[in-house]
Amino acid sequence: MNNVKLVGTGSYVPDNVVTNHQLSQWVDTSDQWIYSRTGIKERRISNGITASEMGSKASIKALNQAAIDPTEIDLIIVATMTADKYLPSVACEIQRDIKAEKAVCFDLNAACSGFLYAYNVAVQFIKTGTYKKALIVGTEVLSKLVDWEDRGTCVLFGDGAGAAIISQSEEEGFIQMKMGSDGRMSKALLCDSRPLNNPFIKEKDDLNLDYIKMDGQDIFKFVCSTIPNNILDLFEETEHTLNDVSHFILHQANKRIIQAVAKRLGADINKFFTNLDQYGNTSAASIPIALDEINRQNKLKKGDLVVLSGFGGGLTWGSALLKI
Ligand code: ACO
Repeated sequence: MNNVKLVGTGSYVPDNVVTNHQLSQWVDTSDQWIYSRTGIKERRISNGITASEMGSKASIKALNQAAIDPTEIDLIIVATMTADKYLPSVACEIQRDIKAEKAVCFDLNAACSGFLYAYNVAVQFIKTGTYKKALIVGTEVLSKLVDWEDRGTCVLFGDGAGAAIISQSEEEGFIQMKMGSDGRMSKALLCDSRPLNNPFIKEKDDLNLDYIKMDGQDIFKFVCSTIPNNILDLFEETEHTLNDVSHFILHQANKRIIQAVAKRLGADINKFFTNLDQYGNTSAASIPIALDEINRQNKLKKGDLVVLSGFGGGLTWGSALLKI
């Protein structure tokens, strides 16, 4: 099996900053409520930029950092639940925009775990030698799916994109991954698609658009009971322990969730990167945006162990143990 190494990261968020105070002008909320319950101060909201446009901008930054020509990319996997169109896929649109002519491209939807799922799938292709270089993108325009009259959800989400490039390598760079899904809890976080509306059905559904619905407390409990064990499982059959980890990059859903996971693991909270105060929850984009920020702050040193961990709708979850 080949080694797989992270060789470049990039991210892009819309310019439009929406503060908690601004939100409190059209729903009954306050900066105090939002910040104390979630850790979010502001988020970026699209003024028209799409998931593929943001994804392309993040991808170009990752390619530049890795000093890789787009034509060297064999595989593009995009994690998103807010694709610009039903078809083509966002991955094909990014391929066109960045001119990655050789790449095989597809999208994957695992909600907020999407980047981890995409990363882990791409790693398998490189390990087995099918492909050598992969671009993995998480990009979301969640503001399309948010009910802007529902204070319980509209304060949580933001728009943005992050990208990572992984490559076949001489050195070890990917140690372990663990993923899981539980469709029984699908109603805890959902957003319906278009209703069936063909001429062969007797009773047509209303063509009302649906928006994200969430049982926040169920999600909170699920994450706190599942993610610490999911992370601990990464260390089975390895020579490493949790104490060897330099950085934990968790899905940026809620600061209290990150604190609870750190506490249950008995890990140093200072090793848990957060930027959700600036961006809110950007679903599949949150981990690659965080990974890019920590990377560009030169905090990733050669040999560092890094845990990535995502969780969200489906329900889905997944973690990976990387060596920088
Ligand atoms: N501003 C003011 N009041 C609010 C707001 C708001 N934005 N939203 C809800 N409330 C009110 C509710 O109406 C309720 O009022 P009531 O007591 O009069 O009925 C009260 O605040 C408490 O509501 P809860 O929903 O019970 O609030 P809770 O303490 O659970 O916090 C939160 C909600 C922050 C969503 C919390 O459940 C949470 O962190 N859940 C984790 C889920 C999460 O982060 N989801 C993100 C997406 S999922 C993912 O990415 C994995």
